[in-house]
Amino acid sequence: MKIILGPASKELGEKVAELTGFEKVPVASRVFPDGESYIRLEGTVQGEQVTIVHTTSKPQDTNLMQLAFMANAAKRNGAKKVTAVVPYLGYARQDKIFLEGENVSIETVASMLKAAGVDQLITVNIHAETALNKFPFPTKNLSAIPLLAEYFVGKGCKNAFALAPDKGALYIAQQARQVLGGDAGSLEKTRDRHTGQTKQTGKHLNVNGQTVIIFDDIISTGGTIVGAAQILKEQGAARIYTACVHGLLIGDAEKRILDAGIEEIVATDSVPGKNSKVTLAPLISEALKAL
Ligand code: R5P
Repeated sequence: MKIILGPASKELGEKVAELTGFEKVPVASRVFPDGESYIRLEGTVQGEQVTIVHTTSKPQDTNLMQLAFMANAAKRNGAKKVTAVVPYLGYARQDKIFLEGENVSIETVASMLKAAGVDQLITVNIHAETALNKFPFPTKNLSAIPLLAEYFVGKGCKNAFALAPDKGALYIAQQARQVLGGDAGSLEKTRDRHTGQTKQTGKHLNVNGQTVIIFDDIISTGGTIVGAAQILKEQGAARIYTACVHGLLIGDAEKRILDAGIEEIVATDSVPGKNSKVTLAPLISEALKAL
């Protein structure tokens, strides 16, 4: 097995190679002045099973094209099988038609990856697992929540309350509770599909005087977490942290979250950045070894 170090997740790919012992295939990449991407595999893959580690966070379109180009280059150069490890799968949130006239973005992404030569896909905490039904090849969705919860146990937050900011993330809070050992609960969030505006409400939660960790799959603008923090403060939470798998943290999201009284933001290296304090390397390595 060989591992192609996709430019969007080079460090993570290096760590996975170290843990699995798979031989590394470096990639030369550049983006031309007009925005088009170029990639070249700097190693042989003839007759090999190869894994490409490459996330598709911002710039999503560039990263998606580079992933497709690497898969195509691998197949053209004789790779037997191509596994794409895409820790953050861009466009996964548009996995159905919400308003008439829309497309299903993730379906287009799936077809594109298939056409490029991808044979199977591993991702991490995809927004909704049903999106994987759109892929015409085998897929696996890993959960990084236990790793995030262990980070907080290491900080002395055993028995903290695990809060999901909406019902869709309740499974995440429940997975965290398995590790933390405290309570779990969720708020309610509704979204206006035309304006994108969200509204959060929270019934009485048992958080008075407690340490609370808000867990979500994605933090993008930070609005969801800031709204949740306001409700938690009203209900008497003593200390508030937040953890997410995919820390997109667009614009001033980090500042907004910290200004809302949250003590720390913890994300994984599915999206590289200064808050990516938990590495996915052991999780991905185990999944690759089990293939
Ligand atoms: C949506 O349901 C996701 O789980 C996240 O809650 C959402 O993407 C976070 O977005 P933002 O940080 O912009 O509120």
